Amino acid sequence: MPLFKTIHINNDTTVFLWEITEDFNELFRQASLKDTSLARMENMKSESHQKGFLSVRMLLQHCGYTDFDLFYDEFGKPHLNDGTHISISHSFDFSAIALSRKNIGIDIEQIKEKVLRIAPRFMEMWHLENLSPEDQTKKATVIWGTKEAIFKVKNEVGISFSDHIFEKDFLLSDKICKAELHFNNQIENFDICFEEIIPNGSNTEKQNYMLICARHGK
Ligand SMILES: CC(C)(COP(=O)(O)OP(=O)(O)OC[C@H]1O[C@@H](n2cnc3c(N)ncnc32)[C@H](O)[C@@H]1OP(=O)(O)O)[C@@H](O)C(=O)NCCC(=O)NCCS
Repeated sequence: MPLFKTIHINNDTTVFLWEITEDFNELFRQASLKDTSLARMENMKSESHQKGFLSVRMLLQHCGYTDFDLFYDEFGKPHLNDGTHISISHSFDFSAIALSRKNIGIDIEQIKEKVLRIAPRFMEMWHLENLSPEDQTKKATVIWGTKEAIFKVKNEVGISFSDHIFEKDFLLSDKICKAELHFNNQIENFDICFEEIIPNGSNTEKQNYMLICARHGK
């Protein structure tokens, strides 16, 4: 499958999504990799992770970059040589990159009921009151992704999802929300947008995904 979807978040930021339907060899043939990336990929334990990694290179190539333009800092945050901000996420059958003029964080998560079991450990449970079980799962996934995406923007050691990141009340139908990071005696505001991703030819066996994007807000 080539590019699955392009989402224009605003004038600064575009998200590109890949649905991974190719087998490993097909992706490997098409993605050009520098030696360090090849070594990293070879060390990955699962083929699913390798395919996620390669599909990100396909997204880069779609956007006019290659693996040779991408480097990682000591915390694992990706950067592009030309200074364009990039954020990367992959989950099972999807991968996503966000390209932006501003610092950006994205997360893509498969929507799974399992998130409700760990929800009390990472979020304020009042967010889930008066919702159907299905909407509780989706909202908890948005909140988890919000925290991951803010973490990717900040890239700072010591941020706790439950103690430092707080989401304002929002509805799933809003597709946006606001969040605050309380860290190092500062409060920073973030604008979040999210969108449910429905795989092609979706049937009961294919899970949907949630894409979450975070950027600094006012
Ligand atoms: C880094 C982290 C956010 C990655 O998220 P994930 O859901 O495991 O995986 P994703 O596929 O969404 O994202 C992986 C990508 O994030 C990017 N990434 C890794 N570290 C990063 C960092 N410090 N800052 C920004 N982006 C980072 C990388 O591009 C990576 O993909 P790649 O190495 O293949 O290019 C997460 O693993 C993490 O370390 N979180 C720590 C925060 C925390 O405290 N979590 C538990 C709290 S209860």
